[in-house]
Amino acid sequence: MSNAVIKLEKVSKTYGSGAAEAKAVSEVSMTVERGSWVAIMGPSGHGKSTLLQLIGGLDRPSAGRIVLDGSELGTLDAAELAAVRGKKIGFVFQFFNLMPHLTALENVEIALWLGGGAHSKGRAMGLLERFGLGDKAHHLPSMLSGGQQQRVAIARALANEPDILLMDEPTGNLDSGSEAELLTLLGELHKAGKTLIMVTHNPTVASHAQRLVHVKDGRIEEDRCNGV
Ligand SMILES: Nc1ncnc2c1ncn2[C@@H]1O[C@H](COP(=O)(O)OP(=O)(O)O)[C@@H](O)[C@H]1O
Ligand SMILES: [Mg+2]
Repeated sequence: MSNAVIKLEKVSKTYGSGAAEAKAVSEVSMTVERGSWVAIMGPSGHGKSTLLQLIGGLDRPSAGRIVLDGSELGTLDAAELAAVRGKKIGFVFQFFNLMPHLTALENVEIALWLGGGAHSKGRAMGLLERFGLGDKAHHLPSMLSGGQQQRVAIARALANEPDILLMDEPTGNLDSGSEAELLTLLGELHKAGKTLIMVTHNPTVASHAQRLVHVKDGRIEEDRCNGV
């Protein structure tokens, strides 16, 4: 039995129409094994973020099929898609995307509320402590360093215990010390069995993944084992 947690079959995404039509993702087929760590690389504007959004059900493909842990996303209505996404996927973004007027703790709590989690304050605090942010719980994002904000964002992404973490340039705005810390944290999550898919420009960051997928013009140009 295959242990694929994500399966894409000839997935395309076209933006605009007529003369303005642009194909961001073009007939991408790939399978991601449960518990694997994949880096998606490639030049800017070549469809990496679009691909990640399609995998995570944040956007729908123009053509093709996406199966996420047994659910075929194309057969789900908006509410069902949101439910699958909320349960199975955690997103981490380059610019952290924390709510600026909420504290670190509230940023994690809100994800728990949205996921229907009970006892959310205790669990949110537990997540922050796990990532070394217990003493920063009542700080606003603007009072935290980039690395700390990104760890809050990861705590938030993990709030509802998703199996899959999708990260779009998660180290893009971190200094090298915070980048190293984040990679250690990702290594631990990988060991704990999470499936990690990260878009990155950074070869050092990518070198931690087991598999390197190079995207060009919306297509997979190269897909290879990283030998780690
Ligand atoms: N919402 C959108 N509307 C129109 N075009 C878009 C949209 N999102 C992305 N694109 C276009 O799709 C292509 C791929 O973008 P993107 O997936 O963001 O690339 P990358 O993440 O590799 O930089 C680009 O040409 C971009 O301009
Ligand atoms: Mg991008």
